[in-house]
Amino acid sequence: MFTLSHLCACFCTLALASWAFGRFRRLPLPPGPPRKFWFGNEEILPWDHPWRQYAAWSKTFGPLIYLYAYGRDILIVNEASAVTDLLETKSTLYARRPTWSMVALTGRQDNIAFMDHNERQRKARALLQGALNPRAQKSWGPILEEETTSLMLQIAQSPESFRQHIRRYLGTYITRFTYGRTVDDSELKLGDEISIHTQQALRPGRWLADAVPLLLYLPDWFPGMAFKRWARGARTKFIDYTAQPFQQARSSVLDGTEMQGMVPDALSEIIAGTSKYKEEELVSAASSIHTAAIETTYAILMNFLILIMAHQDVQERAYQEIASVTESTRQPLLSDMTAMPYIDAVIREVHRFNPVTPMIPRSPVKTDSYKGYRIPQNTWVMFNIWAMTHDPNIYRDPHQFMPERHLPLGHEDSAKDPRDFTFGFGKRICPGLNLANVQIFLFVTQLLATFEVRPPLKADGTEEDVVIDYSSNFVSLPMPFKCRLIPRSGNAILY
Ligand code: HEM
Repeated sequence: MFTLSHLCACFCTLALASWAFGRFRRLPLPPGPPRKFWFGNEEILPWDHPWRQYAAWSKTFGPLIYLYAYGRDILIVNEASAVTDLLETKSTLYARRPTWSMVALTGRQDNIAFMDHNERQRKARALLQGALNPRAQKSWGPILEEETTSLMLQIAQSPESFRQHIRRYLGTYITRFTYGRTVDDSELKLGDEISIHTQQALRPGRWLADAVPLLLYLPDWFPGMAFKRWARGARTKFIDYTAQPFQQARSSVLDGTEMQGMVPDALSEIIAGTSKYKEEELVSAASSIHTAAIETTYAILMNFLILIMAHQDVQERAYQEIASVTESTRQPLLSDMTAMPYIDAVIREVHRFNPVTPMIPRSPVKTDSYKGYRIPQNTWVMFNIWAMTHDPNIYRDPHQFMPERHLPLGHEDSAKDPRDFTFGFGKRICPGLNLANVQIFLFVTQLLATFEVRPPLKADGTEEDVVIDYSSNFVSLPMPFKCRLIPRSGNAILY
């Protein structure tokens, strides 16, 4: 029965809600460059390494910068303390990604990285984390060691094709991990195409449909709808790449010919009715791995190569540490990880120098207030990881490549581990970080144990200067470069 006390409770709730709503409405938006009527900040939005421009703007506007462009509220967050306040303290509020119009059109809507933080997403993440965690590493770690050593042999045979060998290594390993089987060239080529499509679909400002979502409802034959035909092609290829292998794995489980891998292992339990997961959650986990793992790991391996080529002193010290542990008689293994603190410092510095995803996007599920400012619901909140790993208050001389900063010196602590930034935060922290750390360690140590990385030679026989520049994509990697990978003399590893 509805009593007077119920009425009072309703009244108080309403009063509180309207007070809170009014308070939010009254709060100002964070500061930012002046906006033009209708177009907001579209004209001044930086496209080349936007993270650098946003870091520079923070000297004028402060660490929080509000922009309005393409019909969206955008908040750039340049300081590390806001990460704790927003992504950890208010982790549920900020656990959602913004909506990219091209994600669904290209068939990626069930990918863990783009889904809302709902039950299916949480379970798919848990499934992936379970398969990748340090305990499960016992089964996939030795295979990774073996694949990395095989990569070194391939590079030794045709060092000029190092790029193709590395991509093949990443594609081969991830397929082996996911489905337990080998992969052929046509599948690897399709995987590369999928990665390019994903990068294109995510590129801000590339698609008019991002600014005018109404376009999504116009028929395909309507003028200007070429983007829909492109998206349809990308979608078909993505489905070929993800659905077919899953169905093959399903058939192999049913006829008892399955290999050991994340999908066949989990499917066997699901089919037997002994799993806590559903098949759709496994589909999400499996179809996310390629997109999330290959491009990011490729970016960091390329970044390591160019930085180590440009810093021969670092390369020499790293090599000496490896040689002292392995005595140049074998390839480094995962069991050597704790014995190589300088290698760990080099890897941290590679992460810091150019974070693989310089900006991490999130979007609050409802209007929030922070430091006296209003953050409207659905704002694209872009956490500027590059600005944080180049903040002179956290890293002295941030534009210098200095692995030593990550080693404790006398009474001074080592610098903050940049991987606390570069793998993301809170409820959406990268579920693949353990595999990534292990794979980067094996690649770095086995490569340096086997080869010297030197700049190409000029016509006069001297070495070229190394020019380091990065792409402005969502996943940022060094612009194409050449290097000489020279087998180390007298090593017992290759011969
Ligand atoms: C150097 C390598 C890698 C880097 C730097 C990296 C970085 C990141 C970052 C920054 C995020 C977003 C986190 C956030 O929103 O807070 C992320 C998400 C993700 N990563 Fe990684 N990653 C790497 C490798 C991998 C690998 C090897 C896998 C899988 C095997 C993987 C799977 C994922 C998935 C599925 C997500 C989406 C998580 C979600 O939205 O809930 N990543 N990664």
